[in-house]
Amino acid sequence: MRSIVPYNESWAFHHGDGQHLLTSFDGRTIVSLPHTAVELPFNYFDETSYQRAFTYQKLLRWMPEFDGREVSLVFDAAMADAVVYLNGVEIIAHKDGYTPFEARLSDGLLRGDNLITVTIDGSENPAIPPFGGAIDYLTYAGIYREVWLKVTDQVSIENLKIETSDVLSEEKAASVRVDLANPQGVEFLGTLTASLADIDGNVLATTSAETTGDDVTLAFTGLKGIALWDLVNPELYQITVELRTSHGADKVTTQFGFRTAEFTPEGFLLNGKPLKLRGLNRHQSFPYVGYAAGRSAQERDADIMKSVLKCNMVRTSHYPQSKWFLDRCDRIGLLVFEEIPGWQHIGDQEWQHESIRNVRRMIERDWNQPSIVIWGVRINESQDNHTFYAETNRLARALDPTRQTGGVRYITDSELLEDVYTMNDFILGNEELPGANRPRTALRPQQESTGLSYKVPYMITEFGGHMYPTKIYDQEARQAEHVRRHLEVLNAAYGDRDISGAIGWCMFDYNTHKDFGSGDRICYHGVMDMFREPKFAAYAYASQCEPSDEIVMKPVTFWARGERNIGGVLPLIVLTNCDEVELTYGSITKRVGPDYENFPHLPHPPVVFDHRHFTADELGTWGLKWIDGSFTGYVGGAPVAHLTMVADPLPTTLEMVPDAIRLKARDRDTTRVILRALDQAGQRLPFLNETITVSISGPAKIIGPTSIPLQGGTAGFWIETTGLTGDIRLEATCARFAPVTVTLAAV
Ligand code: GAL
Repeated sequence: MRSIVPYNESWAFHHGDGQHLLTSFDGRTIVSLPHTAVELPFNYFDETSYQRAFTYQKLLRWMPEFDGREVSLVFDAAMADAVVYLNGVEIIAHKDGYTPFEARLSDGLLRGDNLITVTIDGSENPAIPPFGGAIDYLTYAGIYREVWLKVTDQVSIENLKIETSDVLSEEKAASVRVDLANPQGVEFLGTLTASLADIDGNVLATTSAETTGDDVTLAFTGLKGIALWDLVNPELYQITVELRTSHGADKVTTQFGFRTAEFTPEGFLLNGKPLKLRGLNRHQSFPYVGYAAGRSAQERDADIMKSVLKCNMVRTSHYPQSKWFLDRCDRIGLLVFEEIPGWQHIGDQEWQHESIRNVRRMIERDWNQPSIVIWGVRINESQDNHTFYAETNRLARALDPTRQTGGVRYITDSELLEDVYTMNDFILGNEELPGANRPRTALRPQQESTGLSYKVPYMITEFGGHMYPTKIYDQEARQAEHVRRHLEVLNAAYGDRDISGAIGWCMFDYNTHKDFGSGDRICYHGVMDMFREPKFAAYAYASQCEPSDEIVMKPVTFWARGERNIGGVLPLIVLTNCDEVELTYGSITKRVGPDYENFPHLPHPPVVFDHRHFTADELGTWGLKWIDGSFTGYVGGAPVAHLTMVADPLPTTLEMVPDAIRLKARDRDTTRVILRALDQAGQRLPFLNETITVSISGPAKIIGPTSIPLQGGTAGFWIETTGLTGDIRLEATCARFAPVTVTLAAV
């Protein structure tokens, strides 16, 4: 039987690529994984600081269970150009920074201490994707995902590929292809048993077969009473395969779901039913630690997409992301567009071969995840290249005939080798773009993008972003325009049945190279800031959910007379899924319904108060007294939401909110903690740029600085457990507020 255990603790880490034998780890920096080679400040840094070589080392002591068996280290990912040495002898080199690799140690293990050395190189190796040109994101060096020590018998299960069929019939079918690993080429006769179970482990069917080494496919047919995987009930099942041979045994369990997903010229269908895809692009980066965020941070991002932003799709721009993230998408019902590493640039033949290998690695890693509904097999926004992309598509279809391919472009008339024309359409709302003198209600017509005379499956994979960068502390008028642009594209996508959906750029702000962003190494393109705290534009997405899911009512205003040019707060967008919103301002009361005039296609158009409802004198005039405004949302005639925006906001409460208060003591569990400066009515104070000092006691540490400036009245940080159980006490202090404490537990 296999054992697979985390191998993340106590790595000796140093700068440079010395892969020499060590006699002692004394005086070395000891780190745990996931690890970032260089911790960066929030912004204004030199990204070349991590673009060099680093070495990780660890002693692997011989264990009796290694005897005569297969021993390896599985790296979920390392950035980049990783080379693994066992006792000074090179075992494997893996250049790509986003996909897993396995270092087989069996042949070289000594019956004593074994030195594992991993060298990585964070320089942007032009020989591999995404490098060779400029890229608008950072590729932080480090062994930034987990490593596992895997021990199996001589013959073991290498991978499982599950396919479902007859999914929409009463009686469904599933098959599992079992790929075997037999590195020593031993002869054997084996029995494979596969059992299909629900998520609680109740076995629904079993089947078995014999094998002498070839890969075997086991089938289940006539499956009754199976629930579909969908967005509301993402029902998962599991298949466990057991292998028994004269050389031992193995057992692997994989989760999957029964669902169909199809992009058609008339839009996207999930389980045969039309579904408009509404999503955001996600990078895998975090402040300070770059890519090196572990399980809970990855899972939390998926949760935020689903339950805060109410999206139904995420694009893993621009590379395969953490398994923790994808597993969570499976579990919560969030669709995924996953793509190979790359950004605009296509390198030489060998570079392209590496990219083709990435297609294989991505698909073989993730083909069982029901959340993934499309493979991106083109370098994001690259030019056409027939030979290269014919091959990425051929390979993707050969590996996984169950999913369609896409390839994200911004060029029009691009050769459609994929199944879906996936287009970055930045045109709407940008009159300054050449050819963009078109109404603000329209996206580029599909046939203008594709250059084809017939309709094809079509999806918008980016919009917004660099066309209208907006900071969480930007002025109100800019944020309102940011909101409007996101709404307009969503509205246009909803208004055209043939567009499968629209995925905005992007979920949160991210660190980037000097060639992009605002000069401080940040692209302020998110609908959230880097701590995943919502800007107003986040509610453009959130407010599209049904009120039965959550009532959303977010006025896009700081409620001040003199914040906007000329003064006043009109036009005032309220992002809401209420039927009506009532605004009370002194003796004036106006109740207004959704703005179907400007946003006819949105599931929930915003309520917009403007000259149609108020005279400029009523809400705008400079020189009048400014007073509180209150908003009440109504659904079915009943009040369901209420908030007041005060005319004289004062620092009243410092809020400190962790995502979780029970953390795992082991495995370096983390949680995000959000700080907010609130006024007497509980609204964020957008211009309170005080510094908050945070301190911690107990078995956890703060990641990043402990002196944190508020930006837009908010800030955040992550804490990480250090191994012991017990209470963790967090304190935040700031001269303008009473200190606040939160107690968490490491269990
Ligand atoms: C796109 C690109 C993204 C990001 C975005 C900014 O062209 O694919 O990675 O740079 O622009 O709007």
